[in-house]
Amino acid sequence: MTVCSSRFDNGVAILTIDNPPVNAGSHAVRSALLTELRRLRATPELRGVVITGVGANFYSGSDLKEFDGPLAEPQLPAVIAEIESLPVPVVAAIRGLALGGGFELALGCDIRIGTHTAVVGLPEVNLGIIPGAGGTVRLPRLVGAAQALDLIGTATRIPAEQAADLGTIDELVDEDVMGRALEAARTCTKRILRHEAVPPVDPAEFGEVADRIKQKGRNRPHILEAIAAVRRAVTNSADDALVAEREVFTRLRESDEAASLRYLFFAERAAAKSLGSATPPRPVDAVTVVGAGTMGASIAAASVLAGYRTTITDTDEAALSRARGVVETALTKAGRPELAEHMVTDRALPTAVHAADLVIDAVFEDLDIKRALFRDLDRHTSAGAILASNTSYLDLDDIGSVVADSSRVIGLHFFNPAHLNKLIEVVETAKTSPEAMATAAQVVRTLGKVGIRARVGEGFVANRIYAAYRAQCEFLIEDGCTPEQIDRALVEFGFAMGPFAVADMSGLDIAWARRKRLAATRNPRQRYVHIPDLLCEAGRLGRKTGAGWYAYEGDGHTAVPDPAVTALIEAERARKKIVPRSFDEETIVRRVIAAMVLEAMDVLEDGVATSASDIDLAMVKGFAFPRWHGGPLKFASHQTSTWLSTGIQEVHQSCPVTFSAEGPITPSGAITTTVREVLAGI
Ligand SMILES: NC(=O)c1ccc[n+]([C@@H]2O[C@H](COP(=O)([O-])OP(=O)(O)OC[C@H]3O[C@@H](n4cnc5c(N)ncnc54)[C@H](O)[C@@H]3O)[C@@H](O)[C@H]2O)c1
Repeated sequence: MTVCSSRFDNGVAILTIDNPPVNAGSHAVRSALLTELRRLRATPELRGVVITGVGANFYSGSDLKEFDGPLAEPQLPAVIAEIESLPVPVVAAIRGLALGGGFELALGCDIRIGTHTAVVGLPEVNLGIIPGAGGTVRLPRLVGAAQALDLIGTATRIPAEQAADLGTIDELVDEDVMGRALEAARTCTKRILRHEAVPPVDPAEFGEVADRIKQKGRNRPHILEAIAAVRRAVTNSADDALVAEREVFTRLRESDEAASLRYLFFAERAAAKSLGSATPPRPVDAVTVVGAGTMGASIAAASVLAGYRTTITDTDEAALSRARGVVETALTKAGRPELAEHMVTDRALPTAVHAADLVIDAVFEDLDIKRALFRDLDRHTSAGAILASNTSYLDLDDIGSVVADSSRVIGLHFFNPAHLNKLIEVVETAKTSPEAMATAAQVVRTLGKVGIRARVGEGFVANRIYAAYRAQCEFLIEDGCTPEQIDRALVEFGFAMGPFAVADMSGLDIAWARRKRLAATRNPRQRYVHIPDLLCEAGRLGRKTGAGWYAYEGDGHTAVPDPAVTALIEAERARKKIVPRSFDEETIVRRVIAAMVLEAMDVLEDGVATSASDIDLAMVKGFAFPRWHGGPLKFASHQTSTWLSTGIQEVHQSCPVTFSAEGPITPSGAITTTVREVLAGI
């Protein structure tokens, strides 16, 4: 296949990149471009060159599969150097995406002409790297160092009009971009950005941007390198800055962190593919959310923001009016207050649901209430409407069984707050039809969420693995740690908050209610930590009661260790005859990650999750597992074999029956092999 073709138009060569689906840069594209450019250099009648892409996009990013090994020559800087050294003007004619390497290529051209569909930007930091083909050197010369750092450090995709305002696109045209590009190639003079000076820099402004992106980027190494690279573009010669930029790009590209972020990129694609189906989705225009509490309000906000006509219904008028306020605030924060007119509140279920294409249940987590609701939905919805439940733990097959045609029942499990959290578990019951799955997948896309396919099972995927994480943290408390020590270790690992601070923030009563519900069926041999129950019984439900795992001082948001909690923990240890040991941070992290990995094995074996990468994606998107580690399984795959077997052994010693319904498993036996096999495959 020809990935780059050329033709002539009155002395101007048109080079067209053709690498479907988005014209991503690849070895083949780079080679073909360089060969064509060299051939053109030897063409005596050449007056100019236009570079463009076939189809909707100019040149979008790079083929990330190539990033796992050494990059084959020629690399992109050589192609751009060839463009710069051509004696005639080179014009980038940009339709659609010109991102990453594509934008760097355009910055190497003398002039950029775009259509209104153009989107330019340098999103490399999303992948744990920095631009490597001159982005950090040429962009500051075009827009100034502080502006360039802002765009690079926040991976901003710049739409056409904004790009034209900033000067990253020189000219916007309505239709005939090629006609205007040809004219420019004949008439414009060369403008090599590398040869220009960076406009004067205001150090205070630069410092303010650097501080902001450091904070947003959690001080990750590639963020610090991006700042250093833009700074070098100001202080060093362009040629020196280009060499240094390439060296940093290559080093970061080969890091575990960048490999993990690429893994998540592919995991997201794989999840979308696994949700995809040959069955066409039903059109969805009207969505009704039943239950206007914590989740219902934020699900409604997500629905309105995605453009659905949205009705919220609740038996409680006060909840409805609170939900309206929540949605309006979310719309205002998203800069779309006008969308509020697409939202209706209606206390009467029959009228609220009769015209809905999709109903989402967000009523109390109670099987009888949900069964009664689905019976009503069966009566009052149109026959084809999809009936989704946001249940976290209840048996969806049971809920669906009360509907005459249970093939239209599905789980859409959102995470709090639903309008901000990206994850949705799309739960397939034994009866869910392909059409309902296809419709749910389409809704997930329209909502701009990441969906993973799940099957019915207590806690589905993410909550179940998070529960294993929490349980292991509680074991560690009994074994000798303090809540603040565990929280500190996990924040150091990369979580924004530790599990005990999170529990206090969400309220300890939610998990307490679930423990009470499960008490009758709990395996009595399983290790059970009573401390959270004792905290709840003492009225310590978290921040909302001013005390939980921590005490809260001053504004009610400052957590401080509480001697009363320490005393309670010590009393429990004494009662259970546990002699406290001391743990270093490495051991704490190893134990909690190994616990998540072992639970993930069960989730896979039960068929609740479809793939290991879906589990990692769920934990990163749903529970803010540090994305640069790629998720618990990806992180474990980067550790040594001793780390893994030690972690598995420690988890088993912490509670031999927790991870096996049948009883103790030999840690060195089948499970370790299974874990190794799964990790080797990701
Ligand atoms: N809170 C979370 O973090 C979270 C996360 C994911 C999923 N969920 C699930 O979402 C669902 C709702 O949870 P929540 O935390 O928003 O609960 P909530 O208690 O905040 O709200 C429930 C709302 O449902 C209303 N309601 C109850 N029965 C009703 C009925 N028959 N008809 C209409 N309205 C009714 C109540 O008046 C209340 O306003 C549950 O199934 C829960 O498991 C919760």
